[in-house]
Amino acid sequence: MTYWPILEHRPHFKSLSKSTPLKYLATSLSQAIFRPLMNDHHTQPLHHSWVQTQDGSWTLFSERFQEACHSTTGAETETDLHYIKGCSILDLESPSILEVGFGLGVGFLTTYRTLLDSNKSWSFLSLEIDRDLVEWFRLENVNHPFLSKLKWEGNLLKAQNDQVTLIILVGDARKVLPAFLEDSSFSWNAIYQDAFSPKKNPSLWTKEWFELLKKFSTHDVKLSTYSASSSIRKSLLEAGWTLSKGEKFGPKRTSTRASLTGFTDPEILLHLERSPVSALTDDNIQEFLHN
Ligand SMILES: C[S@@+](CC[C@H](N)C(=O)[O-])C[C@H]1O[C@@H](n2cnc3c(N)ncnc32)[C@H](O)[C@@H]1O
Repeated sequence: MTYWPILEHRPHFKSLSKSTPLKYLATSLSQAIFRPLMNDHHTQPLHHSWVQTQDGSWTLFSERFQEACHSTTGAETETDLHYIKGCSILDLESPSILEVGFGLGVGFLTTYRTLLDSNKSWSFLSLEIDRDLVEWFRLENVNHPFLSKLKWEGNLLKAQNDQVTLIILVGDARKVLPAFLEDSSFSWNAIYQDAFSPKKNPSLWTKEWFELLKKFSTHDVKLSTYSASSSIRKSLLEAGWTLSKGEKFGPKRTSTRASLTGFTDPEILLHLERSPVSALTDDNIQEFLHN
């Protein structure tokens, strides 16, 4: 793993291709000039570059997926709106959270800050395919009061104290999550569905994926996601979830909340009936990518 010291991350520019969106080139250029003053992260994970979002918080742009981990309107504001509030974390007696996509850890850190002064005991299971990114997170947090406890156990990075358990499962979520669940009694009452967009990350938006998430959910689970795409809403519906509209954020006019009780919002149903797109399934991912 390579670390670029703060003042020496310019070699990153060599890896930008012609297809790199102009807005990221511009952002990267401003980072090269201003980052040492503005960003308190010390290093940059391999194959990612820093992007500052409009609320002042930072996210990462992934070279592999060609997408940023958060809305450029605000990484922390989006996390608070879609996940902390979207899953009503403060109303849960004992939050047991599944996060789809650990990324740079904004979901975990925002949850940690939110629950720090509560007396709740809570757990956070997160899924991440990129081992370098997870190891980068561990090294960035060696002085953190809780995250300094992070230790590798095979493909799993874990930290635990009396109040909090964090497990980051590393590998393709479609393979590692079912294997992990076989040997555990885990269930969750909140799901942060925060994979990259369906076009970049289709296997984490299919009917079969949402069926798996349902199987290990409590009856009162809340799933929340930034996406409002008709295909993913159809995947959720076909997997047995009921849907409602979530908050708007940035340029997106709405988002999606799902549960296993109640009824789907009739406006969503009407909209989906009129939409020609199909639910995403494990069988039609290729077709979806080429349409
Ligand atoms: C949108 S980012 C998550 C941002 C994160 N929730 C945060 O707050 O920092 C999506 C993450 O999903 C990961 N990912 C993509 N495909 C995956 C897969 N098949 N299994 C597990 N993780 C995956 C990516 O590497 C990326 O870090």
